[in-house]
Amino acid sequence: MNALKLLITDHKEVERLFKESETAPRARKRALFFEIKSSLETHAWVEETIFYPTLQSTGDKKLVDLTSEAIQEHIGMKCFLGELAAVSTDASKFEPLLTKLIQDVRHHVKEEEGEMFPAVQKRFSADALDELGTRMQMEKERFQLSAETIYG
Ligand SMILES: [Fe+2]
Ligand SMILES: [Fe+2]
Repeated sequence: MNALKLLITDHKEVERLFKESETAPRARKRALFFEIKSSLETHAWVEETIFYPTLQSTGDKKLVDLTSEAIQEHIGMKCFLGELAAVSTDASKFEPLLTKLIQDVRHHVKEEEGEMFPAVQKRFSADALDELGTRMQMEKERFQLSAETIYG
């Protein structure tokens, strides 16, 4: 499985949840948020433990810089997810924060797909991207199972 395809498929799935949450009634928004949270946590985990370290160890300066910026943005996003979970029953706080989370993640995804991924595509062979994607897919499944064991 190609690593970039795997990540883009995740991005599309989160965007689908974002769109649904933007028009959903209040009660449904909260349930959707917890789906968004778990998708983003799994995606961020796989990027942070496999994809980004590979870019930092084998990428050129541009990729290393883009990756450092992306890691900072993930930290911000995870803070946000925690805050949102804490205020999820208070619509007056929850809804504006959710709008901000969606904005920030869309910006992050735009940078990954617009700058980082094209640079990765140039630098890595198709075989290397397939090998990376297979490792990421396995880790994704392992993480989801362990997350379900802990929180489910
Ligand atoms: Fe990311
Ligand atoms: Fe991503």
